[in-house]
Amino acid sequence: MADLYANLEDDLAYVEDQLRVQLRSKEPVLEDAAVHLLNAGGKRLRPVFVLLAGTFGQYDRDRLAHVAVGLELIHMATLVHDDVIDNADTRRGTPTVKARFGNRVAMYTGDFIFARALSTLSHIDDVRIHKTLATAIERMCLGEIEQIRDLFSLDQTIRTYLQRIRRKTALLIEMSCALGALAAGAPAHIVSAVRRYGYYTGMAFQITDDVLDFTSTEERLGKPVGSDLRQGNLTAPVLLALRSAEVGRDLRELIAGQGHFGDMRQAVQMVLDSGGVKGAMDLADRYLVKAHEGLACLPPTPTRMSLAALATFVGKRDH
Ligand code: IPE
Ligand code: IPE
Ligand code: MG
Ligand code: MG
Ligand code: MG
Repeated sequence: MADLYANLEDDLAYVEDQLRVQLRSKEPVLEDAAVHLLNAGGKRLRPVFVLLAGTFGQYDRDRLAHVAVGLELIHMATLVHDDVIDNADTRRGTPTVKARFGNRVAMYTGDFIFARALSTLSHIDDVRIHKTLATAIERMCLGEIEQIRDLFSLDQTIRTYLQRIRRKTALLIEMSCALGALAAGAPAHIVSAVRRYGYYTGMAFQITDDVLDFTSTEERLGKPVGSDLRQGNLTAPVLLALRSAEVGRDLRELIAGQGHFGDMRQAVQMVLDSGGVKGAMDLADRYLVKAHEGLACLPPTPTRMSLAALATFVGKRDH
């Protein structure tokens, strides 16, 4: 992936240093837990989008780094909390904060990282950025609450699912693109164009994450697989499988039973056999086509090529 934006290498290294600086604390447990997640790696996709989008305006490394670090910290905070909610023991190939430090420390570590995100972003004196982000974070919470509300619910449609993932994931990617451009003072039509690109790419990103939960391995992803369905989170592959003539009815019954582990393994197999995974990959591709189409409104700079390559990566990614 790093080849897609080789020219940003130095600035991303600077963002990495700043992430570490922001996580310093007098309280060793908070710092250890937060730095544990930082050291585990991750794709740093949100900072990449901020910096790339920033090239459409006046590129000021320090200013954009505040936005990039702020967004990655918000992302990290949500991951720490997500692993508590999803009861996940591995992330980025190492034990989760929850697994290593326990749920109680994980809740406060998430809050601590979130507070440092706010502190970093306070260097940006543009009220629009703060308001936009506050709304985005509120919607992320809504998305996660909707996911809890819809667990095992067979009434939900693909539309419900799409609304949920827009909020829980696409929005932060959309914001990374939009705020990078906005912070760099890019013209309004450019801000909306990169924002639209971020929305479509973000949707494809979560659909792919949901597909990988069925098709990948813990070794490759660095996080558990197969747990969405087991926990009742019905994602695109399942919702599409439920439409299939062959397995739809049996799958519905297994899901309605809400879960013995053995039943759920059988349900996973049904989803794989039904074409649901293929359907979800096609759905992700349709979003990516729109992401690519939207790029046509942007000036033909090297950044536009990097954004195109990143959208392609999202469709083909295996981690
Ligand atoms: C994981 O995000 C959570 C989702 C929104 C699917 P990433 O896949 O970007 O996680 P890291 O930062 O690379 O670990
Ligand atoms: C991502 O959803 C939600 C967040 C915004 C953190 P998942 O629960 O599918 O993310 P992973 O698969 O644990 O990374
Ligand atoms: Mg989750
Ligand atoms: Mg999770
Ligand atoms: Mg997932």
